[in-house]
Amino acid sequence: MVLFMRIFLTGATGYVGTAVLDAIVRAGHEPLALVRTPETAERVATRGVRPVVGELAAPESWVEVAATCEAIIHTAFEGTRQGVSLDRLTIDGLLDAARRRTEAGAATTLVYTSGIWVLGDTLELADETAPVNPPDLVAWRPSHEQLVLDAASSAVRAAVIRPGIVYGGARGIVADLLKEGGNGLIRIIGTGTNHWPCVYDRDLADLYARVVANPEAQGIYHATDEADERVEDIVEAIAEHSKTRADVRRVPIAEARTKLGPIADALVLDQRVRSPRARTLGWEPTLHSIAGNVARLLEEFRDARAAA
Ligand SMILES: NC(=O)c1ccc[n+]([C@@H]2O[C@H](COP(=O)([O-])OP(=O)(O)OC[C@H]3O[C@@H](n4cnc5c(N)ncnc54)[C@H](OP(=O)(O)O)[C@@H]3O)[C@@H](O)[C@H]2O)c1
Repeated sequence: MVLFMRIFLTGATGYVGTAVLDAIVRAGHEPLALVRTPETAERVATRGVRPVVGELAAPESWVEVAATCEAIIHTAFEGTRQGVSLDRLTIDGLLDAARRRTEAGAATTLVYTSGIWVLGDTLELADETAPVNPPDLVAWRPSHEQLVLDAASSAVRAAVIRPGIVYGGARGIVADLLKEGGNGLIRIIGTGTNHWPCVYDRDLADLYARVVANPEAQGIYHATDEADERVEDIVEAIAEHSKTRADVRRVPIAEARTKLGPIADALVLDQRVRSPRARTLGWEPTLHSIAGNVARLLEEFRDARAAA
């Protein structure tokens, strides 16, 4: 029996969080969405979602509300110099909310969003038991995952979701490639012979919904479409679908590091990843390739940009 839950969601306006919000609304749950401004609050309220106006940096603005919820899903991340310390502060707040519930005799499900880059280069197919070997950009992430996993108890169900590179709509790394294709020049960092583990946004969101709904779900879940696509194949397919065939430029890693910083090393990771634990929840990605779905993804990209 599926239980309808009250769910506190951070990052509800973000790329991952928007998809998760849609999925949990569709599943009949009652989301309470952390938003930063009254304007955003109004926007989510028109969708029948209860906004909680607050800030990751001010846990007092949301911990009490989070403590009234059966499940807490954390997808927010601030892409600034403070991002990592804010994520740590947020985890402390989420654990505080879970502790308050435990003391009141209530159970909690905690879902933390990590990312597949924590695995580093994968020498073999990597499932959820694979050791981590993060590049500098996400060297901090495994300890944050562990803080959440360590909270597991008879009253707390703790799960970590590691999405692959997300595609779909008009946001994220793959949408940037689609945009570059439209502008006639797509850049590949490094040789492009490396494999990216990717996941369609709606499929990813479906995994979050399954994790909260399944009383047995806890621990680490990978979310990847298992297509093992090479970056150069993704880019070629996008270039071919551009109105006039886009040029492709390979940017040497040293140059990319100078221009982009540590994300350059994450973009050249060679990763082939499997998600068997997610599949035990009945999760089955509906899209299995970017290259094979470029026409559809371009249509989604244009629709999402027009709607923004
Ligand atoms: N996108 C991917 O391909 C991908 C892949 C793997 C893992 N992940 C992980 O998934 C998480 C979310 O990524 P994303 O791509 O969805 O990011 P995003 O689109 O930038 O969304 C970030 C969300 O966090 C909120 N936020 C940022 N700072 C905040 C603050 N100080 N207080 C309250 N809310 C704040 C933003 O709210 P505003 O709308 O107010 O800015 C937004 O809703 C990150 O941890 C990321 O590493 C992403």
